[in-house]
Amino acid sequence: MSIRVWDYQREYEEYRDEILAAVDKVFSSGRLILGESVKNFEKEFASYCGAANGVGVNSGTDALFLGLKALDIGPGDEVITVSNTAVPTVAAIVSTGATPTFVDVDPDSCLMDVRKLEDVLTDRTKCVLPVHLYGQCADMDVINLYAQAHHLKVLDDCAQSAGALYKGRRCGSLGDVAAFSFYPTKILGAYGDGGMVVSDAPDITDRVRSLRMYGMSGEYYAGEHGYNSRLDEVQAEILLTKMEHVERWIERRRELANEYGRRLVGSGLRLPQEAEGNYHTYYVYVVRHRLRDWIIEELMKRDIFVNVSYPYPIHTMRAYNYLGYKSGDLPVTEDLTNTVFSLPMYPTLSDEEQNTICDALEDILS
Ligand SMILES: Cc1ncc(COP(=O)(O)O)c(C=O)c1O
Repeated sequence: MSIRVWDYQREYEEYRDEILAAVDKVFSSGRLILGESVKNFEKEFASYCGAANGVGVNSGTDALFLGLKALDIGPGDEVITVSNTAVPTVAAIVSTGATPTFVDVDPDSCLMDVRKLEDVLTDRTKCVLPVHLYGQCADMDVINLYAQAHHLKVLDDCAQSAGALYKGRRCGSLGDVAAFSFYPTKILGAYGDGGMVVSDAPDITDRVRSLRMYGMSGEYYAGEHGYNSRLDEVQAEILLTKMEHVERWIERRRELANEYGRRLVGSGLRLPQEAEGNYHTYYVYVVRHRLRDWIIEELMKRDIFVNVSYPYPIHTMRAYNYLGYKSGDLPVTEDLTNTVFSLPMYPTLSDEEQNTICDALEDILS
């Protein structure tokens, strides 16, 4: 029996009737773009996040890009972020014409090391963009205080953290603007691409609403240069259907994380930790080991597949050489790229499969 690192087909088998009913509802409605399904989903998802407004867009990358544009971030501005993230975080900043500046991450949480913010602040810094990676939130109280003190905006990359709580507050309601992805692997995944910008500030979300539709606010008239970045009706209706299950799915992820923790403590793997005040959603279950590549090979021999996110530090990638970073500049981030790997983690992973994975790891590491 092969164990995959991620699987949506089982979910589809289980919820096939609901998903096909959602698709049929849209196809029968006579409206395929920006209709009731997008409107309803925007309302539901923003409210789930504890925020006033949501704007559905084409992807998480566009949610970041348009969120930054709505904050007036552009050429000449600097945005503080991390290099321990997915490439799109950085790509979205660069697409606005602004310059990303990187702080290293905390070695325990692997999230923005708030003690390093001071090192990169310049008079061009306009925004802090923390990434709530792996399913839990960066230390937002400190980040918000720091931003207030220096008149910076805060845009959270929540692509991996839908449903996570920070000190009792849901991610999406923690900074000025939040960007979500509904890429299929995500906690709340579409059957295609999708994203959302969420904010309490109506001026921000109104601006994103216009930017996602060629910069138009009225019909056929562009008030500013814009883009085509709409969430489509079919994905919105599927996501609305899936939202009914999301809390239960997060609980299942936490149950699996608990069991991995129980079985693998003392195995030699460095296990993820839930930071104080956090409710971790375990989008991915990231472990660390110096012999990572060998362990992965051994697991593959046993038909168990894992993932490495991420194997290359962004600040040393060719695309971003022009930023002037070099190897050694962000030692914790660079170390993570050599040691991290993610064990299979999805709500439909069975207890039996998890047992097989843990047995295999115990065997390999003994
Ligand atoms: C941290 C992070 N930011 C941004 C994105 C971009 O999202 P999308 O793939 O929907 O554009 C992703 C997902 O791929 C991500 O994991």
